[in-house]
Amino acid sequence: MTDSKKIILVAGARPNFMKVAPLLQELRKYPTIFQAQLIHTGQHYDAEMSDVFFRDLALPQPDRFLEVGSGSHAEQTAKIMLAFEPVCVAERPDLVVVVGDVNSTIACAITAKKLCIPVAHIEAGLRSRDWTMPEEVNRVVTDAIADELFTPSRDANENLLREGTLPERIHFVGNIMIDCLVTHLPKTEGCDTLQRFSVQPRQYATLTLHRPSNVDYPEVLSGIVHVMIEVSGQLPIVWPVHPRSRQMLERVGLLRQLESCPGMKLTDPLGYLDMLTLNQRARLILTDSGGLQEEATVLGVPCITLRHNTERPVTVEAGANYIAGNDPIHIRATVRSVLQQDRYTIRVPELWDGKTARRIIEVLRRIYD
Ligand code: UD1
Repeated sequence: MTDSKKIILVAGARPNFMKVAPLLQELRKYPTIFQAQLIHTGQHYDAEMSDVFFRDLALPQPDRFLEVGSGSHAEQTAKIMLAFEPVCVAERPDLVVVVGDVNSTIACAITAKKLCIPVAHIEAGLRSRDWTMPEEVNRVVTDAIADELFTPSRDANENLLREGTLPERIHFVGNIMIDCLVTHLPKTEGCDTLQRFSVQPRQYATLTLHRPSNVDYPEVLSGIVHVMIEVSGQLPIVWPVHPRSRQMLERVGLLRQLESCPGMKLTDPLGYLDMLTLNQRARLILTDSGGLQEEATVLGVPCITLRHNTERPVTVEAGANYIAGNDPIHIRATVRSVLQQDRYTIRVPELWDGKTARRIIEVLRRIYD
């Protein structure tokens, strides 16, 4: 390798921060080989959706903050592209690295690619085959144009090969988010999170909900909320409420009812360490998030996914994840059946071992050599 390679890492929304943190840390171990810059698009901007993760994950302040904020999909994607293009033109990086499947991922991948800047996608190849999910569009388009595709599981390799991706571009490196989990799990030891919510280990569930398909339709949201209220009679539920869900709960008049329900413990979105502490000690995780399905698998805590499908089938095969959809009858039956079991055999998927960032750097060094 002659001179150092300039790499721009893009983060924009909450689930991106725990994916860029381990990579940035690893890249910065090799300052003569890589010059890494962190760009925050500003897709998420509230302190509890962004700043708290910089603190908890000891992420350095971004080199640039694009401040794009919220908007419709077209508006937000376009705003990110408009703001990111001059950064690419000024910096002329050797590589733009995007992670996950949010609007910042697709917007920055397209922008860089059209300037003939190579793009690497971390968490490539996941498919829900559900085209109503904006993330599925983001995943497929990003993978179609990325030059280097880093996959978390073997099914992702198969998806990419089936779509015609050249095998030499696909790198099975494992799950980068688990690097973050492995690094930070010891720090949860002294956390007072459970005391703050007055819950006991294994005697509560955590709930997260933010998919448009669950929270944007009042009848669907109300169906889920009513089952959760029922469950909370038996097992208290800690629910950090996403801003999107809070707006809808308020609009349809469910927020007050939830707040007066003794078993439901509603709170603002939580930081990484609080959430990790709660999830690790929970009896059950209820979620429509993608990342939580993976964290539950590694933590060995059963997870009920409130969606009809998952782009992470490896979590189901591992014995951790139960796909319940969003129909109240089905959710109720799944909760009952999962709570009846007192032992779970959960296998940690291959290469979800905390060493993914290291493997990505090895691949990059090979490419540049
Ligand atoms: C986005 C991602 C989703 C990811 C989720 C994690 C896309 C298409 N979706 O969804 O894949 O799982 O982040 O949270 O990229 N809002 C705030 N404060 C913020 C951010 C958002 O109040 O800091 C509110 C705004 O009203 C906004 C709404 O939440 O309109 C939705 O935000 P947006 O970034 O569009 O999508 P998410 O639902 O967060």
